[in-house]
Amino acid sequence: MRKNDKLSRRFFLKASGALTLLAAIPTALKATYIHVKNFIIPEKKVVPLTVSINKKAYTLNSDTRTTLLDLLRENLSLTGTKKGCDHGQCGACTVHVDGERVLSCLTLSAMVVGKEVTTIEGIAQGDQLHPMQEAFISCDGFQCGYCTPGQIMSAIACVKEGHTHSVEEIKAYMSGNLCRCGAYNGIVESIQKVAAL
Ligand code: FES
Ligand code: FES
Repeated sequence: MRKNDKLSRRFFLKASGALTLLAAIPTALKATYIHVKNFIIPEKKVVPLTVSINKKAYTLNSDTRTTLLDLLRENLSLTGTKKGCDHGQCGACTVHVDGERVLSCLTLSAMVVGKEVTTIEGIAQGDQLHPMQEAFISCDGFQCGYCTPGQIMSAIACVKEGHTHSVEEIKAYMSGNLCRCGAYNGIVESIQKVAAL
């Protein structure tokens, strides 16, 4: 066998080995991508969900990844609850679950199975507004109104839990609810008004 023949055979073997490796890279990359994606975004899984919202029973199928906020707004058209940051930082999405205030953007719908959810749509008695809604109107507790549903749900919890002994205490309790219009003075006044009833 001539030297050149040996070289070209060795070259051929190396080249085909490299090509085989190169061909395997996309498959390995794809597998890694799917693995990472499944870790970050869990696979879709639909579960039956029974929940009471504003004293009305709902039975529906929900993707386990759906937040309570999206369930309310997208699935049930209860758009009174607002989506601000969607990251637990603004309080616009505040609702009550079994009487406790929660951030619905940080609550999975699967976590409220069998519970009572109350949204801003559920606090009035027919045409009679909730005292906190009345107070927000009479004390100028809102301007654009975008933060207002969340503010009112937190304000009701603030009074119910008795955090109304001072302006500082009210402000501390309400600190998770942001208002870009700066209606804070009216909000505090509204809470004081309802606490005094
Ligand atoms: S939308 Fe939930 S805290 Fe901002
Ligand atoms: S009233 Fe406009 S964000 Fe609060």
